[in-house]
Amino acid sequence: MSIYFEKTFQRSFGTFPLTGEELSKALKTAIDIGYRSIDTAQLYQNEAEVGATLATLDIPRQDLCITTKVHPDNFSEAAFLPSVEESLKKLQLDYVDVLLLHWPTLGGDIALSLRLLEKAQKEGLTRNIGVSNYTAQMMRDATSLIDTALVTNQVEFHPLLNQDILLDAAIETGIPLSSYCSVARGEVFKSPLFGEIGARYGKTAAQVVLRWILQKGVSINTMSTKTANIQANFDVMDFTLSNIDMAQIDNLTNTGFRIVGEDLVPWAPKWD
Ligand SMILES: NC(=O)c1ccc[n+]([C@@H]2O[C@H](COP(=O)([O-])OP(=O)(O)OC[C@H]3O[C@@H](n4cnc5c(N)ncnc54)[C@H](OP(=O)(O)O)[C@@H]3O)[C@@H](O)[C@H]2O)c1
Repeated sequence: MSIYFEKTFQRSFGTFPLTGEELSKALKTAIDIGYRSIDTAQLYQNEAEVGATLATLDIPRQDLCITTKVHPDNFSEAAFLPSVEESLKKLQLDYVDVLLLHWPTLGGDIALSLRLLEKAQKEGLTRNIGVSNYTAQMMRDATSLIDTALVTNQVEFHPLLNQDILLDAAIETGIPLSSYCSVARGEVFKSPLFGEIGARYGKTAAQVVLRWILQKGVSINTMSTKTANIQANFDVMDFTLSNIDMAQIDNLTNTGFRIVGEDLVPWAPKWD
């Protein structure tokens, strides 16, 4: 079973683009509220601050699920493992719980990066491995390129974007999805639907959005600087959306609103 299916780890606290005091404050609040799964990346340049903040808190290591991601610039024999060791040093950890390839390799040849990822696990630098921003075909290819099961493909996932092709690939390959941009960086709040549904459950629009993601079988990554939002995003395990409400939200995925693409990052593949 993927580590992200463990109840506490189904809800991760994302740390991009937070740094400095803002990061430290938000992360402490998240831990206080009960988050135990924390998502960072070499690209975010905040691993040292995540590590320093966690070091001040009295949380047993085994209760935490720390995810970091290898920057595509480090997808070479020479750079990969040293970069992970550097991440561990910054995070003040002996191992991470999940190590992800942040993006597919530029040009699409994913084989070397996957083998290096597997090597990082064999050397004990991480407990689990996974990928991010993979297409359905890359998910299928990955299962034949390495022996180790991938615990996630972390992708943009929210109700304004249809990701059925990836959901099907998740079932076919056994690589579960996890979300980023879960509230579409606020865009979801322009639709009245989530608030209307939420009113019937005593929940906010954001909580309905996150619950929809969970009920799609996708674990969630959220980021907020505000205590009320950090709390709300955590309180999504005590209600279940009806099939009718799920279907109504499904209809919105035709909006086709995608945030992260090649205009933002050079490694973005041709999306499904
Ligand atoms: N793998 C990748 O390539 C990738 C790419 C992007 C992000 N990520 C990860 O995913 C995490 C989350 O994604 P994201 O931050 O880009 O997008 P997001 O979660 O869709 O949006 C974050 C924004 O939504 C607001 N927000 C959060 N919860 C809210 C709530 N309950 N009510 C109202 N507003 C709310 C926050 O503002 P306030 O601070 O005002 O609450 C924040 O500005 C990141 O932190 C990062 O760890 C991964």
